[in-house]
Amino acid sequence: MPVILGIESSCDETSASVCVDGVILSNVIANQTIHEAYGGVVPELASRVHQQNIVPAVQQALLNAKVNKNDIDAVAFTRGPGLLGSLLVGVSFAKAFALAKKLPLIDINHMQAHILAHFIGDHQPSFPFLCLTVSGGHTQIVLVNDYFDMQVIGQTIDDAAGEAMDKTSKILGLPYPGGPLIDKYARQGNADAYKFPEPQIPGYDYSFSGLKTSILYFIRDNVAKNPDFINQNLPDICASVEKRIVTILLNKLQKAARAHGIKQIALAGGVSANTGLRFGLQELCAKNGWESFVPKMEYCTDNAAMIAIAGYYKYLKGEFAGQQIAPLARMPM
Ligand code: KG4
Ligand code: ZN
Repeated sequence: MPVILGIESSCDETSASVCVDGVILSNVIANQTIHEAYGGVVPELASRVHQQNIVPAVQQALLNAKVNKNDIDAVAFTRGPGLLGSLLVGVSFAKAFALAKKLPLIDINHMQAHILAHFIGDHQPSFPFLCLTVSGGHTQIVLVNDYFDMQVIGQTIDDAAGEAMDKTSKILGLPYPGGPLIDKYARQGNADAYKFPEPQIPGYDYSFSGLKTSILYFIRDNVAKNPDFINQNLPDICASVEKRIVTILLNKLQKAARAHGIKQIALAGGVSANTGLRFGLQELCAKNGWESFVPKMEYCTDNAAMIAIAGYYKYLKGEFAGQQIAPLARMPM
C-alpha cells in the first residue's frame, strides 16, 4: 500500500497530491493570479509564488487525504519540462522533505504525467493507445505502449495549441490565460461564421503560427473597417477560431490512429479542458468505432495528482532518483 506524495510546480500552478495504493486521496492546486496583469506567465514571479504556496499546499493535501506525513513512502516530483525557477522550488522541496524523512525520491516527466492521469479512476485505456497531449507549451501525438514507454509520433513545429488559444485571446484583448475564455465565448457563437486556413504540414506534425498570423490580419483588417468589430462579433470569432484549432488537431490524430491501427484515443493537457475538443474527439471516435478517453477537468490542467499516480507506477517498478537530481527545463519523453 505505498503512500506517495506528489509535487507539481512546472509552470504557474503549485500543486500537491496524496496517492495511496494507486488511489488519489487529495489534489490541492494553488493557482497564481499575479500573471493576469502581464498577459502571460512571468517566470521570476512564478517561482516566488511557488515558494509561498508549496508548504501550505502540501499541508492541505495531507489534511484532505487524512494522511500523516510520517506515513509517506516516497516523494514524486516534476523534474521537467517547465520553467527552471518554478521547477527548482518543487524539486528542492521534494529533496528536502525526502532527506528529512529518509524517503526515496521519484522524478517524473510532466508530459508523461499528463498522459498517466488516465490511470486515475475507473475508465482506463489499455496499451497501446494514442494520446493527443495539448497544453500551453506542447502539442504531441504520443503512441503509449506502456506506462513509461511512450513515443512521440507527431508534434508542433512552432506554436503549441494552447499558445494559439492564448495568443488569439491576446489579439482579442482578453486577459491571460485566454483558452478558457475562448471556450466560454465559443459556446455562444457560430463556428462557421469565419473561415481560417488549415496548414498543410506533412505527416503527423502540427503548425499553429500561420493560423495565428491569419487571425491577426483578419482582426486588423476588420477593426480598420469597423472599430467595434471585436465587441460585436466576439462569440462568432471565438467559435470559428476554436473550430479551426480543433479540426487541425483531430484531422492529424485521425490520420495517425488509422495508420497505426489504434482504436483507443485519449486527450491530455490543459487544452483537453476545451469543450469543442472534448466533443470533437467523442464524435471522431463514434464515427470510427473507437473508444475515447477524456480526463476529468481537474486532471486536464496542471495538477499533482498526475505526478502522484505516475510516481505510484514508478514506485512499483522500483525506479528512484538520488539526492543529486536537478530539474530540467527541457526533458524529452
Ligand atoms: O497543461 P497546462 O495547464 O499547462 C502547461 O503545461 O502548459 O495547459 C495550459 C493551457 C493554456 O494555454 C490554456 O489557455 C489552455 O491550456 N486551456 C484551455 C482551456 N483550459 C485551459 N484552452 C482551451 N479551452 C479551455 N477550456
Ligand atoms: Zn502541463
